[in-house]
Amino acid sequence: MKSKEGVIVFDHPLIQQKLTQARDRHTDRREFRDLLAEIAALMVFELTRDYESETLEVRTPVGMCTGSCLAAEVTLVPILRAGLGMIESILHLVPQARVGHLGIYRDEETLLPVAYYDKLPSDIANSEVIVIDPMLATGGSCSHAVTVIKGHGARRIKALCLVAAPEGIHRMRTDHPEAPIYTAAIDEGLNEHGFIVPGLGDAGDRLFGTG
Ligand code: PRP
Repeated sequence: MKSKEGVIVFDHPLIQQKLTQARDRHTDRREFRDLLAEIAALMVFELTRDYESETLEVRTPVGMCTGSCLAAEVTLVPILRAGLGMIESILHLVPQARVGHLGIYRDEETLLPVAYYDKLPSDIANSEVIVIDPMLATGGSCSHAVTVIKGHGARRIKALCLVAAPEGIHRMRTDHPEAPIYTAAIDEGLNEHGFIVPGLGDAGDRLFGTG
């Protein structure tokens, strides 16, 4: 894992292998979904490392044991649609997490985010919040999401994506420097349509078979 100025890049060989498979245009929908889910779980394993724990006493078949459990309140916020592809596997690891949904799409002409749905838990001010979207392109969608979440009083927000463009990272670092970005790759940049190059295509379309 490489960490620099609030950007954490997962260079772990297992994650890189799965990301490479996901990038491959020949990878079919089912495999793409599985890969996205697996990578999300592997990344969240590290992302949650600094979350608060508390001690917990349990009785084993042999005697008492002082163990621990997660004390932090955790809220996952997938950006619809593609963020949904990373949610289930994270919930397997953090089953007590709550989920808030933000519907945002990017206008194809202006590349600006258009928000169309917002359903967050009401009391997330003290929650650890993870904003989830496989693609960080211009960064407009993620930045908007973090602004909305901050509006609900949350202070500890992390962004989780699969592939990030330098433009998106710059945007997030400028708008929300306190929110670290966790990504499996920083790609070359954006093409004239605002797609990440080389990226992995449109994650939403590849997950759901649209497009
Ligand atoms: C894609 C992607 C991000 C956004 C990234 O969503 O899943 O949400 O674009 O772009 P940005 O960083 O430039 O804002 P899209 O607009 O395709 O919506 P969809 O998931 O509903 O298809």
